[in-house]
Amino acid sequence: MEIKNESVLVMDFGGQYTQLIARRVRECNVYCEIKPCHITAAEIKEKGYKGIIFTGGPNSAYDENGPKCDPALFELGIPVLGICYGAQLMAETLGGKVIGIEDNREYGKTEIEVNPSSLLFHNAKPAAVCWMSHTDRIEELPHGFKTTAISKDCPIAAMEDIKRNFFGVQFHPEVEHTEEGQLYLRNFLYNACGCTADWKMDSFVADTIAHLKEKIGDKKVLCALSGGVDSSVAALMVHKAVGKQLTCIFVDHGLLRKDEGDQVEKVFKEQFDMNLIRVNAQERFLAKLAGVSDPETKRKIIGEEFIRVFEEESQKLGKMEYLCQGTIYPDVVESGVGASAVIKSHHNVGGLPENVGFEEIIEPLRDLFKDEVRKAGLELGIPEFLVFRQPFPGPGLAIRIMGDITEGKLEILKDADAIMREEFAKNGLDRQVNQYFAVLTGIKSVGVMGDGRTYDNTIALRAVTTSDFMTADWARVPYDVLEKISNRIINEVKNVNRIVYDITSKPPATVEWE
Ligand code: XMP
Repeated sequence: MEIKNESVLVMDFGGQYTQLIARRVRECNVYCEIKPCHITAAEIKEKGYKGIIFTGGPNSAYDENGPKCDPALFELGIPVLGICYGAQLMAETLGGKVIGIEDNREYGKTEIEVNPSSLLFHNAKPAAVCWMSHTDRIEELPHGFKTTAISKDCPIAAMEDIKRNFFGVQFHPEVEHTEEGQLYLRNFLYNACGCTADWKMDSFVADTIAHLKEKIGDKKVLCALSGGVDSSVAALMVHKAVGKQLTCIFVDHGLLRKDEGDQVEKVFKEQFDMNLIRVNAQERFLAKLAGVSDPETKRKIIGEEFIRVFEEESQKLGKMEYLCQGTIYPDVVESGVGASAVIKSHHNVGGLPENVGFEEIIEPLRDLFKDEVRKAGLELGIPEFLVFRQPFPGPGLAIRIMGDITEGKLEILKDADAIMREEFAKNGLDRQVNQYFAVLTGIKSVGVMGDGRTYDNTIALRAVTTSDFMTADWARVPYDVLEKISNRIINEVKNVNRIVYDITSKPPATVEWE
């Protein structure tokens, strides 16, 4: 899908902050794309980028084997901003010198002094805190450059060649700890590149819907709706474009959170009048899972059964030309667009077989980051509780019940989890903590209730803060909130007599218990 906005190129040299840089650029209302660093000057020219940002990276710019850029890109007349390794590479390529600094490595918050007459630091404070993380530094400027910022241990913390619109910064403007990082980025994007901030969610949504309408014409589209943010927003965009030509299949495997199936059905059927088929397949899934306690086997069974149910239902509908999926930009980048590609370990249960006979896959969110998907969702009028829903694993509650799954266990877990979610929302923790849920641990222990001895289930509460789910910290939930949740679960949920709170980070633990 080609929607034309002014666009900036983020060239990935394998830095850990590549996606963050791109998100920051988008926050300045400028569209950008991440491409691997071996993109050629000819491709860059053809794409018509308004600016180029070199990311950081783990290598040394003087290392023969480190990633390089096509030097011809410096002849295109396009402004370039190099960040950390990107700045050093720019310096080396244009005739400067970079050296290793064994003794005075800078790591963490550092104060820099900037030259306010520099374009990059226009309207900036003369001294500001920024985030440094480097073991090399620029020792000699390339011809035409001057120093525009210094720090105690870094005599060239920023440089620029204003004639050619080339800029380099040793620190990371994209990181939150860099106080005025967003201002520096805006200065580059607006003042050096001349971007007009035309990347806006309302126009993206309107343009995409118009585009989908034209592309789909009078053909039919099928979508697997899970009730998660991505598939909901994708489906609704298509629905706004072609209405009842879209059919959504919502497979309720019975492993969803309490009342979730009904909520999804209500929103999409009643509020949006969508063509939604809810398949109540709880019994079928439970029968397949009966007696199975190995976590990976449970995942596999659910994944396979999901595909089977989806296929059966879609066959009943006759020919559908298009399949709509909620793929988002990080999925695209992670599957190999950037140099820092990370392979996703989890395949969503929504994953569908490739050869189901569709002419084409439609992915309206392919260019969006998660926070942009949420903005688009709000723009489309999807209720906040759906738009800001925490991530939920495809296999659902099955991987939060240790051991085999029964209807009784599911009921206990659903009730306990609902109480936890309710209390988190009441105390404003639902937007602060990235994922939180109850686990049925499979442990039974002794307790006393009233005058009697009990021997019953242990529920664990799990709550984590994280930015990418690759690593996570356990959330410091206030004791009184934990106390309230614990009391309520004990009083309101039968067959539970003990609550524990999980205080392990990831690593060494994972977010889920299975
Ligand atoms: P872990 O437990 O691996 O979880 O630290 C990281 C994130 O991934 C989610 N998760 C899954 N998502 N299918 C999914 O669609 C799965 O099998 C699966 N396992 C974990 C988990 O909820 C967390 O957000």
